[in-house]
Amino acid sequence: VSDWTRGYSTDITYTAGYYPSLNPALHCFALLTAGWRPPTLDRDFTYAELGCGHGTSVLIHAAAAAPARFFANDFMPAHIATVEMHAREAGLTTLALSDAPFAAYADAALPPLDAVVLHGVWSWVDETSRDDLLRFLRRHLKPGGYVYVSYNALPGWAPILPLRELLRGGEGDDSGQRARAGVAFAERLYDADARWFAGNEPARIMLERLRRLPGNYLAHEYMNDAWRLLYHHDVVRELQAAQMTFATSAALRDKLDDLLLTEEQQALLDEIPAGPRRELARDFCLNPLLRRDLFLRDGVRLHATEQARRLNETSFVLLVPRSRVELRLAGPIGTVTLPHEVHAPILDLLRDGPCSLAAIRARLGLQEDLATTVRTLELLVGAELIAPCLPTAGLAARRETTTRLNDHVLQGALAESGLDVLASPVTGGGVRLDRVERLFLLGVRRNAPDLAAFAWRILQGKAATANDPPPLVLRDGGQRFLSEMLPLLQQLAIA
Ligand SMILES: C[S@@+](CC[C@H](N)C(=O)[O-])C[C@H]1O[C@@H](n2cnc3c(N)ncnc32)[C@H](O)[C@@H]1O
Repeated sequence: VSDWTRGYSTDITYTAGYYPSLNPALHCFALLTAGWRPPTLDRDFTYAELGCGHGTSVLIHAAAAAPARFFANDFMPAHIATVEMHAREAGLTTLALSDAPFAAYADAALPPLDAVVLHGVWSWVDETSRDDLLRFLRRHLKPGGYVYVSYNALPGWAPILPLRELLRGGEGDDSGQRARAGVAFAERLYDADARWFAGNEPARIMLERLRRLPGNYLAHEYMNDAWRLLYHHDVVRELQAAQMTFATSAALRDKLDDLLLTEEQQALLDEIPAGPRRELARDFCLNPLLRRDLFLRDGVRLHATEQARRLNETSFVLLVPRSRVELRLAGPIGTVTLPHEVHAPILDLLRDGPCSLAAIRARLGLQEDLATTVRTLELLVGAELIAPCLPTAGLAARRETTTRLNDHVLQGALAESGLDVLASPVTGGGVRLDRVERLFLLGVRRNAPDLAAFAWRILQGKAATANDPPPLVLRDGGQRFLSEMLPLLQQLAIA
């Protein structure tokens, strides 16, 4: 292990995933619903993603929140080169990138920051790197600013931990191959009825998951020397060193998980005042593998009337065509069914476009208290069926930057390469489209008279002829795209 890596696996690059949970608009919504004053997402907003990997998330979020300024670092130059290339091609000037390690980035000249995100970092780097990160927070985060931290959670990980030993014992030319060999060996043990797997359902589920993951994901997740499992209270204690206080969970999905608590569990949790002990009890009840927490520096509590005013002004938009919405949702820890009579009217209303919370309540004649409606909306946000909107002021400027980035993304679909996420200036986040959908959207942009023929020609890699018409499934797909997806993409200002 060479010194600069600090035991982190750097021999192969990471996967280029997009993480909606890093969208600052969602963080601000989570803080607001928890009663905290969130930073204002306007042109003065500043955000840094540390250890950004290939940077897909920060690219999307920077484009969708322009002219707010975004910063990101990662010490693997190949990662930064990818995101730099996309930013250049998209003409994105509000994202500043660095391949400095955390130690040097902590001393970089940056403006005071409203937000810092650490996704897939806190559990995965050594103590010296964590000290550098704390120094970064102490030096750069504004009072009232927040940090998002995700980490491998206890007790959820406890029964699975030994699997990592098998991964790290694998052989191969690089850490990806070694991890894959380790998974194959774990499968052989499983097939040989090794007793550790008997009665260890979480380990069996994890092995099933691991066998489907690519080597470069496994390398960065499991092969580092430093790799820790943390209780929530461990992270609370560690972040105190940077004067950070736990504010709320950033995983809006947790609100859904609450539906999985039994009445007895809920009553038990209600006995415990908010704080680490209650979070611990909740983690025992729900057993998550990953926690995503928001911490504030000098957080300010909002007065209830101010909180209500801001919530009432917040607009919401659909993220999925209404016709495709399923109220039965499969989550990591079970299936949740959202009550139809509560959620369907809101989803129906949003079919016509974004609508503020106050307008939703007025138009549906809701008599319930505000907190009840907010809870319903939180569930729909957690299920990624709807999203809170950024303020409409600034939409035109944001739309310019997202249109340039989205043009670049759609251009990539021609060559079956590049990104599969488009940025929405309405939500500040990304929407994933498969390649065929991206080609349909490109066809719409180019006023192609026949979307299926347009996509088919590109997929075939040659000029389509009258004798080579698109298959029926592509024709149907084109029709559905026009009737279901395109109106949604228009509401999200992507089309
Ligand atoms: C598990 S990956 C997560 C990447 C990204 N945040 C994501 O969630 O997709 C951790 C990232 O941190 C970077 N990293 C690890 N140690 C670092 C350090 N000391 N300085 C800068 N980057 C580091 C790695 O190169 C890697 O891209």
